[in-house]
Amino acid sequence: MLVVFSMEIKDQSLLKTEAYIDGKWISKSSSFKVSNPYDGKEIATVTDCDASDMNDAILAAEKAFRIWSNYTANKRSRILQSWYKLILTHVDDLAHILTVEQGKPIAEAKGEIKYGASYIEWFAEEAKRVYGDVIPGQSRKNRITVVKQPVGVVGAITPWNFPSAMITRKIAPALAAGCTVVVKPSEYTPLSALALAELASRAGFPSGVINILPSMDAPALGVSMTSHPKVKKISFTGSTRVGKIILKQSADQVKKVTLELGGNAPFIVFPDADIDAAVNGCFASKFRNGGQTCVCTNRIFLHTSIHDEFVEKFAAKVSSIKTGNGLDEKTFIGPMINEQAVSKDLELIEDAEAKGAKIVVGGHRAQDLFLEPTIICDVNNTMDIFSSEIFGPVAAVYQFETEEEVIQLANDTNYGLASYFYGRDYALIWRVAEALEYGMVGINTGVMSTVAAPFGGIKESGFGREGSKYGIDEYLNIKYMCWGGVE
Ligand code: SIN
Repeated sequence: MLVVFSMEIKDQSLLKTEAYIDGKWISKSSSFKVSNPYDGKEIATVTDCDASDMNDAILAAEKAFRIWSNYTANKRSRILQSWYKLILTHVDDLAHILTVEQGKPIAEAKGEIKYGASYIEWFAEEAKRVYGDVIPGQSRKNRITVVKQPVGVVGAITPWNFPSAMITRKIAPALAAGCTVVVKPSEYTPLSALALAELASRAGFPSGVINILPSMDAPALGVSMTSHPKVKKISFTGSTRVGKIILKQSADQVKKVTLELGGNAPFIVFPDADIDAAVNGCFASKFRNGGQTCVCTNRIFLHTSIHDEFVEKFAAKVSSIKTGNGLDEKTFIGPMINEQAVSKDLELIEDAEAKGAKIVVGGHRAQDLFLEPTIICDVNNTMDIFSSEIFGPVAAVYQFETEEEVIQLANDTNYGLASYFYGRDYALIWRVAEALEYGMVGINTGVMSTVAAPFGGIKESGFGREGSKYGIDEYLNIKYMCWGGVE
């Protein structure tokens, strides 16, 4: 199958276009095209799996579960570690593939590959620390023990914004726990997923432990995962709209579910904040991955006393952003993922302007899938942008007078993923951190994602945590054993 950028990849066998099911590369008669969002050119034709392939993969994963879950934690850990090392050895090729199919700058792509690999390293270690408990009972005749067991086959549905890291963040803890996985990667970015599968096969995972099924028909594959009785757990990262569908579908069999959904992150700057640090933090948080992360700053709330100084400094930075081909080392922001994403942001800008907001930088389409990095000021909560997840390089700036007012505005959203604020008074820091209704709070920082911390949201941003010591619990069942007759 056609892969036009193959000459730039040192290890050609990382370029896979078939599905990976039960340890075999499977080619189907139907296929779909993957294109580079930078120039719209087709880069590959990838096999298009359907519900019957998903069924095959689930049955293979079920069979493999009996083997994999019986490996010692040490043995699973060693295979995960080999996979981790292989990924780091191939970081340049993997990053190149990622940039060409997703558009993000090559430095960010390398960062993503390493970030994604860090989940494998972390959970290779955690595999060995799945401890149970012995609990003092209420009767001398009984003893209580608690063990944790892998849930079984896990279905993972992953997004295009982090084509590599969102897969490893889900499947590394699942595999460490002893589960086996079927993965449906985004149809925009299947090549990164398949390259990970190639390295997994070299690392020595038994057949059927990891299955990756590219497909254009996400709804059909989603239904086949959520309705299959052998799938015991679904983990999804994507929009709140789709997350709700998956949750409803999973309810029929009362499956365990983890949902990492949309966000509407506030970024608050209080009058005593270090303004230069706040500008840098806001810039990092707003424009990471071109604004296309669910933890990106979405609403910037500036105290009126520091508003003008902040905007002036922020505008100087935003005006200097270089957009372009992600493969060019000088590029800071690549293209957006598709036309729908660009049009949605242009509509949000238009609505805000029509209701009185002022564009300070950008505001237009540059060309094709490129939107000018934009700052809009005088935004308020009557505008659509207040309640929408922007998911693009558009910074919306609001003003506030009091702590009470800004907390009310910040929490006035159905989302509850990431939030940020800058200030120095320690009592204010505690009050605000506690009052923000979010799963994650960045205090005097704009970037807080790390494998060591529990990533996840509340409200309509979902539930469940990824990474950290908590991440593996999502893939384990707790079993209580009551030992009677101990006289
Ligand atoms: C996401 O946008 O879904 C993940 C971002 C992150 O891990 O920081």
